[in-house]
Amino acid sequence: MKRILKAFIFDLDGVITDTAEFHYQAWKRLADEEGIPFTRKDNEELRGVSRERSLELLLGGREYTAEEKKLLMERKNQYYQELIATITPDDLLPGAADLIKNIKENGYKLAVASASKNAKTVIKNLGLVEAFDHISDGYSVEKGKPAPDLFLFTADKMGVLPESCAVFEDARSGIKAAQAANMLAIGIGPVDRVGAADYVYDTIADVDLNEILE
Ligand code: BG6
Ligand code: MG
Repeated sequence: MKRILKAFIFDLDGVITDTAEFHYQAWKRLADEEGIPFTRKDNEELRGVSRERSLELLLGGREYTAEEKKLLMERKNQYYQELIATITPDDLLPGAADLIKNIKENGYKLAVASASKNAKTVIKNLGLVEAFDHISDGYSVEKGKPAPDLFLFTADKMGVLPESCAVFEDARSGIKAAQAANMLAIGIGPVDRVGAADYVYDTIADVDLNEILE
């Protein structure tokens, strides 16, 4: 059955702006300080994943107490916040602003659904607060991606059925979450990361809205 789309949901980090790089730099600084090996390749598995789960993946079974883990997460978040404080509208990924404008002008609802507790700061610094009908972030639901909860919550907030939503995602966990929510999944990035999506584009600038709406 053909889907009738009514809304588009954007992941934030790695889709609208390259904060995936800032998350990497902040984790890398922490890992170096702790003497834990951590590469860009390792970081790929952290895309879309909550701060807690990211730390577990980075620690890879090394023994830390709950209190130590809390302090490690606070440190990483402090490093990350130093980086996102520098964000301006110039940090929108090429094509993101045009795509958002195009979707809005065609009468679709628009939302952000990010796993990040820093999403609202990033959106504010990008100058995009007014662009979306709703913003869901790391405070919105308990269970993060790949669970469908964040996307279902976002659709509900917009008053749109899940099957009428399309999701732009750069993370494997995010594609899984969108599909588990019965939404159209649009992958941004390499096939080996987002190949399970219904449509795959290398970058947000390559997205062909007409193709998706056909
Ligand atoms: C996601 C990122 O958007 O947010 C992850 O892709 C990040 O890399 C997660 O871990 C949580 O972000 P924050 O800002 O709450 O630590
Ligand atoms: Mg992302």
